[in-house]
Amino acid sequence: MKDVIIACDFSSKEECLKFLKQFENLQHKPFLKIGMELFYASGPEIVRELKKQGFKIFLDLKLHDIPNTVKKAMKVLSNLDVDMVNVHASGTIEMMKAAKEGLTREDGTRPLLIAVTQLTSTSEKAMQEQLLINSTINDTIVKYARNAKEAGLDGVVCSPLEAGMVKEACGKDFLTVTPGIRFKDSSKDDQVRITDPAGAREIGSDFIVVGRPITAAENPVAAYERCLKDFLG
Ligand code: C5P
Repeated sequence: MKDVIIACDFSSKEECLKFLKQFENLQHKPFLKIGMELFYASGPEIVRELKKQGFKIFLDLKLHDIPNTVKKAMKVLSNLDVDMVNVHASGTIEMMKAAKEGLTREDGTRPLLIAVTQLTSTSEKAMQEQLLINSTINDTIVKYARNAKEAGLDGVVCSPLEAGMVKEACGKDFLTVTPGIRFKDSSKDDQVRITDPAGAREIGSDFIVVGRPITAAENPVAAYERCLKDFLG
């Protein structure tokens, strides 16, 4: 089940397809993350096209709305045959349960459903002062992960440095999907709490999400293969 997910943070379908052309002869078909920018620019068509080419898709749209709206939106995404989607855990257990219901197809299958706990861009200070959450950021992350588990979700997105405490609270089968991955010898860009692919494997991440270390590399295929080797061992 463990895999490397390439974050396809491109602003157009053409740019994305041109980038992926380099990967067409690989044996291991990459798992891709499509985020808001590309999805809002290209619509469901980009997902259909990439599925047709055999890629697995994590559609990172982070849904957060009333349960009924999320349920109906998830039904649409499930019909797109994506492999993984997500919601904000702060939408409540009821909303997460509705998301799962909406995703579940008539034959009982569904994409993996994971929750965002607290965004890594939210500091403890901002969370306490602006969101009035009177708790530490780590306690909040663990509580939200437990809520996601109670709602029947498969796991959470978190920093690799938080994966250990999430596993401890929710069990080893509860998935951790971790961005914030950098090679030891490459630029950190704007990421702060980072680890390298081998470090993420040791911590117990199930999926690492890697963007610029692959997309901005001189040789993206070589960078991807290095991630696979270091992460999967
Ligand atoms: O280029 P880079 O490897 O930093 O890309 C990481 C990807 O993971 C981006 O698409 C970013 O939006 C996403 N992400 C993140 N931190 C989170 C949640 C998502 O970096 N907490």
